[in-house]
Parts: sequence; C-alpha cells; structure tokens
Amino acid sequence: MSEDTMRAVTISEFGGAEVLTVEEVARPEPLPTEVLVRVHAAGINPVDWKTREGQGMAGLQTLPLILGWDVSGVVEKVGFGVTTLKVGDEVYGMPWFPRAAGGYAEYVTAPARQWARKPATLDHAHAAAVPLAALTAWQTVVDTAHVQAGQRVLITAAAGGVGHFAVQFARHLGAHVIATASAARHPWLKELGADEAIDYTTTRFEDVVKDVDVVIDLVGDAHDNTSTRSLKVLRPGGLLVAVPSGVSPDLTRAAEAADVRLTAYLVEPDGPALTAIAGLIDAGEVAVEVEETFPLEQVGTAQAHVQAGRTRGKVVLTVTD
Ligand SMILES: NC(=O)c1ccc[n+]([C@@H]2O[C@H](COP(=O)([O-])OP(=O)(O)OC[C@H]3O[C@@H](n4cnc5c(N)ncnc54)[C@H](OP(=O)(O)O)[C@@H]3O)[C@@H](O)[C@H]2O)c1
Repeated sequence: MSEDTMRAVTISEFGGAEVLTVEEVARPEPLPTEVLVRVHAAGINPVDWKTREGQGMAGLQTLPLILGWDVSGVVEKVGFGVTTLKVGDEVYGMPWFPRAAGGYAEYVTAPARQWARKPATLDHAHAAAVPLAALTAWQTVVDTAHVQAGQRVLITAAAGGVGHFAVQFARHLGAHVIATASAARHPWLKELGADEAIDYTTTRFEDVVKDVDVVIDLVGDAHDNTSTRSLKVLRPGGLLVAVPSGVSPDLTRAAEAADVRLTAYLVEPDGPALTAIAGLIDAGEVAVEVEETFPLEQVGTAQAHVQAGRTRGKVVLTVTD
C-alpha cells in the first residue's frame, strides 16, 4: 500500500453481499476543520446492508460508495483550524450521517467536532460498536422523549444494538423499563436494567403491558405491525418514537384515534453526546455488547450476520491492529 492509497470495501452497484469489494482506493485528505482518522475498527449497523441493497440511505449516495458510519481509530492528521484534537488522539464517531462516511476503510476524514474521545476503558472493537446505536438510543430516550424518573418505557428489540443502549439509558434516568426480546436474552437484559422482559415469540406485548409513557419502537410496522400495536400500550398523551420505518399516514391516523403522540426519528452526528456516553461507559454505568468481530475482508459474512436480525448487541469489523 502506498502513502496515497488505502484498503477499503467499495460497492459500485446496489445489490447483495457480492457487490462488496475489498480494493485499494485513494486515501482521503482532511480539509480545514477536519481530521484524518486511521480506522482500527468499524461497527456494522442495519442501515449498512439496507443501503447496500438500494434501500436505507441509498437515495442520498453516489456510486462507487464506501459503506460504514461507525468508526474507532486514531487521529493521523489534522486540517487547518482544528484546536480540539491532535495527532495520536484516540477517537470514535459516526461522522457525516446520512451522507457517506466511508467507515469500512483504513482512513476516514470528517469534521473534528463530529468525533469524541474514545472511551478509555474500551478497546477499538468495542468503541466502534457504540456510536450509531448509542446515539440513536440517546437521541430518542434523552433528547426526543425526555424520559423522566418513574416513567414507564417500553423498548422493542431491546437485545439489539440500539435496544441494549436504550435499556441502559432509560434505566440510568430512573425509568421503569419494559423490554421485548426472545427468552434467552432476558437474564442479560435484566442485568442491563430492564425491570420486565417480554418474549415476543410467545406473548403479544399489548396483552400484558399498559400505561406506558414512552415507546421506543425498534422493530417497526414492517414486522408484525409492531409500531401500530404499540399505540395500544401508551397512556393518553404518551409518545411513540417510531425508529426503523418512520411514520405512515395510517400510523398517524391510528395515533390520533388513540390520543397519543408520535414521531419519526433519524440519527444525527453528535460529538458532545458521544463524550457524555463515553463518560457513562468509563464510569461503569453503561456496558457495550459485541457479539462477534470479523476482519474487514469478511464484510459480507459480517453484514449477513446483522441482516439475519438476531444480533445480541453489535457486530464489528476489525480493520487495523
Ligand atoms: N431511524 C434511525 O435513525 C435508526 C437508527 C438506528 C437503527 N435504526 C433501525 O432500528 C432497527 C433496530 O436497529 P438495531 O441496530 O438495534 O438492530 P439489530 O441490532 O440488528 O437488532 C437485532 C435485535 O432485534 C431483535 N428482534 C428482532 N425481531 C424482533 C421482534 N419482532 N421483537 C423484538 N425484538 C426483535 C432481536 O432479538 P432476539 O434475538 O431476542 O430475537 C435482536 O437482538 C433497525 O431496523 C435499524 O435499521 C434506525
């Protein structure tokens, strides 16, 4: 590899795992206010395979494209004007979203303030598991729903990447947390702070839950009408945050009829929130679950693992030692 190139996973067309190609491409240069980060690990999120298939954020991208938004690495170069980071700093982030970040690569450039110091207690593989999932959990639970102590919060798909952070943030705020997951995950979710766990494979949550203040729905209406069913568990005036599939006209009408509030949501880069999250992780208040890591070359297998929809916590690509 020359000084000007890097290994990256590119796609030249949208499609199945076969469109993922590891190749040598030009190494990016930081513009003023940006830093160049040497990527040690890159987290995988459902939006990665959805975009690869031509859904997700595909409509916002141009081909060829380097997928991947979650990065943990080390600052290699700083652009003009950067005062908050220096060469050698260990950082993590979810830069540029929903524009392409190019995380499945050896180097990424992004605005300095979209990064934060990596949690000191985590290695890069665990740090790369945090940004997109934890920012989604933080921005929904804290910034959107303003969850308060004593409130009842239902989190669907609680065992996944976003869900396992949402459980911990809601619990940290003093909420009563109700989680849906398959039975094998219940003991772990209770350790993370869930007060109740419901096995969605045997029980419809609306049959056993009521008077909920906030639903963080991470399943969506595409699967078993989960967003629409979750309206039934909310108290009047309660809030549904519909994370995966947004808000359809039918869902809006159903929410009005049920006298509850409803919002769509899309994650945004947020360096200061990542700093706050790193503080909770380093204080031992929040744990990060990495189910499996794969080398960059096995990106197709790694994405297939996430696409199967049963991940406990996160899946991460290791890029550089
Ligand atoms: N709008 C946004 O900004 C935004 C941001 C992040 C994520 N998302 C979307 O939100 C969804 C969740 O993301 P993620 O990263 O957390 O996904 P993930 O890690 O792939 O979620 C996997 C988990 O989903 C659980 N699950 C699957 N079907 C379920 C069901 N019917 N009921 C309850 N749990 C179920 C599985 O639990 P079991 O193994 O126990 O079955 C597994 O632990 C995805 O659709 C993603 O694209 C949207």
